Amino acid sequence: MSVTDELRQIAVGNRQSEQHNQCAVRLRAAIFVVGSEKIMSDSVYQQGNASLNNASDQFSDNPFPLFQQMRAIGPIVPMPSSYGTTMWMITRMDEGIQVLKDAQRFTVDPRTVAVDDPKKRRSMDQMATGGFFGGPSMLDVDEPDHARLRTLVSKAFTPRYIEGLRPRIQSLADELLDQVQDQGEIDLVSDFAYPLPINVICDILGVPPNERDQIGYSSYLDRLVRNKRATPQDDLISQLVRIEEEGDRLSEAELRGMVGLLIFAGHETTSNLIGNGTVALLDNPDQMARLKADPSLIASAVEELLRYSAPVVTPIPRFAREDVQIGGQTIHKGDVVLVAIASANRDEGQFDDPEELDLARQVNKHIAFGQGIHYCLGAPLARLEGQIAFTTLLRRMPNLRLNVPRSHLVWRGEMNLRGLVSLPVAF
Ligand code: HEM
Repeated sequence: MSVTDELRQIAVGNRQSEQHNQCAVRLRAAIFVVGSEKIMSDSVYQQGNASLNNASDQFSDNPFPLFQQMRAIGPIVPMPSSYGTTMWMITRMDEGIQVLKDAQRFTVDPRTVAVDDPKKRRSMDQMATGGFFGGPSMLDVDEPDHARLRTLVSKAFTPRYIEGLRPRIQSLADELLDQVQDQGEIDLVSDFAYPLPINVICDILGVPPNERDQIGYSSYLDRLVRNKRATPQDDLISQLVRIEEEGDRLSEAELRGMVGLLIFAGHETTSNLIGNGTVALLDNPDQMARLKADPSLIASAVEELLRYSAPVVTPIPRFAREDVQIGGQTIHKGDVVLVAIASANRDEGQFDDPEELDLARQVNKHIAFGQGIHYCLGAPLARLEGQIAFTTLLRRMPNLRLNVPRSHLVWRGEMNLRGLVSLPVAF
């Protein structure tokens, strides 16, 4: 299968899964709406296409051989798109950072780029993520709105506040494992990797425990925000409601967008880190043994699992505001650029033995949390959750092993977030 076919299949998979999960999938679909008929005739692409024809691994299980081949083609590779917009994939670290840091010339909001071609215009508008979380959010606006929204919530996400969550996250992790400890086998995704982060973010936002199964529904989030406004409590949504009521700093739509973003960004990504990270440890028993023998390695282990296991493969698309030269290519105004974080994190020019998992890696400047103004707001929280999750899991289930053949693991098959449907393990 060629890379074009592969990318096309991934795109189709995305659109099919859209029925299942409202909020999260809307972002995914927006990122990968590339049902392609037109294949780029760019010379770089032509050159590389032959070598990509053999890339047949199922993408989200193992996208890394494909990325390795794309890096060999160059730091920037044209992608198939039938929507009138040219799409580019950035495969290497330096160029990836260049794009993510250049918020002047690359916007997350295509509506701010004036283009005359109606087909290109339509395509760009289709890819806009604006409002996907129920209102405008910091992730889909540029400065100065971005800084205003981010500053409001950053006040709550202080290092002290995050560190204060440690006992609660630890007791959640223990409670989840208490419930299954006698069973001898579990689905690590549904029993641990999924409920841990979702409960942490629900605690932060003040979602009552008996309502947590409803947070995927937009109508529920509307109601939740209304209830917090009527009866504010000691939680993040109530704090934001107070700010909204102070007037010109946060509109009602922005408050709703903020809540939607925090829920979306705060759980699936971290679930993927825990699930994918566990598979990476099971695939590398020497590394798992090393961590069990020396739990003080946990901070560097989580950094390596962030780099290696690719919970986020690509962040949201960037759109060129003007013609820009990158990696020897001209990106034209209105073109879409996807930074393959998962590929940059295995860039041979940046890491020794990038395809190896090394939990004690000394130099590890990964970009799993992005770069620039949209750098992950929740990075300290995600790190803390990851550290507690892996430490608790290995301490309580030291004999952890896969309960199905490795090839039977089912991945969700998305392009931008890499995660498992389930992870059957015995212990
Ligand atoms: C392993 C877990 C996580 C990973 C790998 C991750 C990754 C990322 C990445 C790559 C971005 C940048 C997106 C872009 O530039 O388009 C981002 C942004 C963001 N993340 Fe995370 N994230 C994780 C966990 C969390 C958590 C727990 C929260 C909790 C609140 C969170 C909240 C956010 C927010 C609010 C943004 C938008 C920041 C902005 O636009 O300024 N993330 N994340």
